[in-house]
Amino acid sequence: INMKNVLLDGTLKPFKGNFINVYSPIYYQGTEERALIGSYPDMTPEDSIKAIKAAKKAFNNGKGEWPSMSPYERINVMNKFLKGLEKNKIEIAKSIMWEISKSWDDSLKEVTRTIEYIKDTIKAVEDLYKNKNLRTVSGVNAFIKDSPIGVILCSSPFNYPFNETYTTLIPALIMGNTAVMKLPNYGVVCHYLTYQLFKDIFPAGVINIVTGDGRKTLKPIMETGLVDIFGFIGTSKAASTIIKYHPKPNALKLCLGLEANNVGVVLGDVDLKKAIPEVVSGCLSYNGQRCTALKVLLVHENIYEEFVKEFSEAVDKLTLGMPWEKSVKITPLPEENKPKYIEELIDDAIKYGGSICNKKKGGVIDRSIVSPIVIRDAKPCMRVVQEEQFGPITPIMKWSDISEVQEFVMNSNYGQQAAIFGENPDLIAKAVDCFVYNVGRVNINSQCQRGPDVLPFTGRKDSAQGTLSVTDALKVFSIPSVVAIKSKEAELF
Ligand code: G3H
Repeated sequence: INMKNVLLDGTLKPFKGNFINVYSPIYYQGTEERALIGSYPDMTPEDSIKAIKAAKKAFNNGKGEWPSMSPYERINVMNKFLKGLEKNKIEIAKSIMWEISKSWDDSLKEVTRTIEYIKDTIKAVEDLYKNKNLRTVSGVNAFIKDSPIGVILCSSPFNYPFNETYTTLIPALIMGNTAVMKLPNYGVVCHYLTYQLFKDIFPAGVINIVTGDGRKTLKPIMETGLVDIFGFIGTSKAASTIIKYHPKPNALKLCLGLEANNVGVVLGDVDLKKAIPEVVSGCLSYNGQRCTALKVLLVHENIYEEFVKEFSEAVDKLTLGMPWEKSVKITPLPEENKPKYIEELIDDAIKYGGSICNKKKGGVIDRSIVSPIVIRDAKPCMRVVQEEQFGPITPIMKWSDISEVQEFVMNSNYGQQAAIFGENPDLIAKAVDCFVYNVGRVNINSQCQRGPDVLPFTGRKDSAQGTLSVTDALKVFSIPSVVAIKSKEAELF
């Protein structure tokens, strides 16, 4: 898939500069070669500035064609876009699978979930405008209109390169904002089919797409001062660096989904048969490359040895292989430096007294293929416990009193979600108490996850700013504009 064109200011034109090759994370057996699956424009700072200026022009201080449309007109446009996506969903999913090595079922789910998210967003906008027009309070009649903010710059990570681009883009667009989309560098070519749809369906300049090195493209965009909202899913370090480039960072509105290091707490009375499959999936689906993955397990001492044994055995049963193979759970990792990083974390954990408890060989098996590793006797000082490793390692710590769980949670820099596995309601309630003011969501006898997408998705501490969900996102990307009329005057109308 060679993405030859750029979409800027309503025109889809062949790119004149350099291109970056995209290689599959999958190596040909017995060689050092990977399939070249496409290329995309290495856009320059000048191209990026054109993109943000085009979005600003299309917004035109709220007077542009798109922000001036009624919500129902915008919904019509969005419905046309939906039809285009549905027609192309298989091709988009294939591209996700090849590019980031996500299993076929999960790649397809990423696209169908996005389609459902757009449908739910349309429904939420209809409800919003049905219910909110006039409110009479203390002798004042107030007309309330949710108005767009301006221009969104949205940027998403490699692990949900399609879906998470749309989770900020769609609510922003439907509320009347215009956009610059910065595509991730892994998971970029899966967007090739939507360029034409955007060009054909939306007014010129409403969506402008930037590809290439983030340092070369995002910095100049921010420095223009033309970005009104930054919708970003990625690391907090990257987010704070980019935000600082804005000449007035305090005026920039933010919707950030950042790192997490979600904790799974296993209580002494856990039903292992029920819990183990859920914990394994929570830790290792898509190789642990989900911000919602369980990254540290805290297991009560009464059940520790049994849990470690059964969990390690279950992990050892996961099949390694290629993403198109039906039963495969562990697939090659797309990030080139990841295997080396994982080896460093294992060495560090062993240095501090941890030990690998899988029987099957864990760690880097063959270049991009990393077999899951379970580390027992994990400690808070280990890098694998402190850092969001975003890979197939599971450190397991032991606790005897719930206050140790509380202390661990309070000392963490992250606060996205947590999961508790156990049976006794009183013990569960005590464990929930450790998290209520520390994370955005607690899951009981279930792994951490973003969905269902109608639920608020947020976090505390360094994990998030702003709340995403079908309905919350509409508020994030709009401002209520109020015209208030004293009741007497109102009666004259
Ligand atoms: O990687 C971060 C995603 O928001 C995780 O979403 O829980 O639906 O896999 P998920």
